[in-house]
This record gives sequence, C-alpha cells and structure tokens, in this order.
Amino acid sequence: MKQFEFNQKYKTMKENRKRAKVFSVVNQKGGVGKTTTIVNLATTFAMTKKRVLVIDFDPQGNASTGFGIFQAQRQKTIYDAISGEATMKEIIIPHKIANLNIATSTVDLSACEVELASFDKREYRLRQILSEVIYDYDCVLIDCPPSLGLLTINALVASDSILIPMQCEFFSLEGLSHLLTTLDLIKENLNHDLKISGIILTMHDRRNKLTEQVEVDVRSFLQEKVFKTAVPRNVRLSEAPSHGMPGVIYDPRSQGAQAYMKLAKEILDREFQG
Ligand SMILES: Nc1ncnc2c1ncn2[C@@H]1O[C@H](COP(=O)(O)OP(=O)(O)OP(=O)(O)O)[C@@H](O)[C@H]1O
Ligand SMILES: [Mg+2]
Repeated sequence: MKQFEFNQKYKTMKENRKRAKVFSVVNQKGGVGKTTTIVNLATTFAMTKKRVLVIDFDPQGNASTGFGIFQAQRQKTIYDAISGEATMKEIIIPHKIANLNIATSTVDLSACEVELASFDKREYRLRQILSEVIYDYDCVLIDCPPSLGLLTINALVASDSILIPMQCEFFSLEGLSHLLTTLDLIKENLNHDLKISGIILTMHDRRNKLTEQVEVDVRSFLQEKVFKTAVPRNVRLSEAPSHGMPGVIYDPRSQGAQAYMKLAKEILDREFQG
C-alpha cells in the first residue's frame, strides 16, 4: 500500500474509534459519598460491558482500597504518571471484574499539589496523560479529593461531565453553590465543554424531615439536573470497603446496591444514548 493511502486509512480508522467519556465525581465537602459512588457505578458500568477506567485521584487512596487493591499492590500509581516517571499504560491495573481497570493512588499524590505548581500548563497535566489511553475505554471515572485544589482542577479540565454527590443537609446547599461558582470559572477559563451531568442525593434518609426539605429545595433549584434515584443510607454500602469489595458485589440485594444499579442505568440512559 502506498504511504499516502496508508495514512488516509489510518486517519479514518482513528476517527471512527470512539473516545471515552470522562466523568469527575466531585464535591469539595468531605465524606459525602464520592468514592462509594465511583466504586459502585464503575462496577455496574463494567458489568454492563462498558470498558471502564477508574482514576483514583485522591491521595487518601480510598477508591483503590474499595476495589480491594492494597498498598503493596500499588507499585506504580497515578502519581508516577503525573510526574512523568511512568506511562498510563504502565500504571493501570486490570481488576478481576471484567472490563474494569484502575489507576491507583497513594499518599504520594499529595506532593502533586506542590510539584504541579511549577509545571507549564499545570491545569492540563491529567488531560494530557489521559490522552494516551482515551480510545481504550468507553468511560473514565475520576475520584476527586475533598478540596478544590490543583488535583480537582486537573480532574475537571480532563472531564467531559461531572457527577456531584451531595448529602441532604443544611450546609450542603452552601457548599453546592460554591462548587457551581467554581465550575463556571473552570468552564469560562479552562474547559469550555465541561457539563454537569447531574447531582446525586446520597445517604438519603426518607424519614428525616430536614432531608426532605433540602431535597425539595435542591430539586426545585436544579430541576432535572438532580437524578431521580437517591441513594439511601445503607449499612451494607459502608461495610463493603472493609471487605475490599464494591457494595454492588458484596450484597447486590441490599437497598444501597439496588439504588446504585438503578442510578447507573439512569446515567447510562442520560449519557450514552445516541
Ligand atoms: N449510602 C451510604 N450509606 C451508608 N454509608 C455510606 C453511604 N455512602 C457512603 N457511606 C460511608 O460514608 C463514608 C464516606 O463515604 P465516601 O468515602 O464514599 O465519601 P467521600 O466523599 O469519598 O469522602 P472523602 O471526601 O473523604 O473522599 C464512608 O465510610 C462510606 O462507607
Ligand atoms: Mg473519597
């Protein structure tokens, strides 16, 4: 084949391949269910045959632990890829659940906040390294730390869409409005195409009057941006990480697991139709 024909064919092949859709799960408030959401959604997506990459982008490494990947197995982590010591392909670990792959993290990642500060285009570093594997997956889910620092900004710049877990508590609304302002700034300055996929109500307690009131306020303010499925407070979801298992595998019949499966379907319908 002549070089020109080869180049044309290769170009068409590349254009026909689909790029993964990238989601960040973000909320600067701690303990609202970001990691639990990532672990359970990623597993459910993988079980529906989506090729999934989870990036644990939190120095706490909770997503890695939640998938049963212990410290000793985290030889190469997302920190090595960010700092240029390894490629993404070298750090990604295939999970025993088919179609599920993890870029792990350890406390080393906390150094990135400082180290990235001296990088040229420091907000774009994750986006840049992700491009190496972006055609290998259908979906990438990034677990963010509970802050709006440089790690979270990198995640938002690398993303197409965001998922925001929130607890129905009094201060949640204040936190949410601060987050939405930050997202507008990122959209204006760093990533024009960033979209909010939706708000996920987590640790939902139907019997609690305050939960109910906050839910009414959030739904009337953000309307269809709030997913219909709320995730209930459920002890099986909180037990699962200590067994190194996602809740949807640990006890698939529990109310929490059922809610995450329903939520996954809602997200797939919203984001992957057409
Ligand atoms: N629906 C739920 N029902 C009961 N417990 C839950 C639920 N969701 C999360 N938890 C528990 O609440 C705690 C915080 O959840 P998680 O780690 O997912 O939050 P996070 O937002 O990722 O926290 P951080 O901000 O520290 O990263 C964990 O112990 C988790 O097991
Ligand atoms: Mg977390």
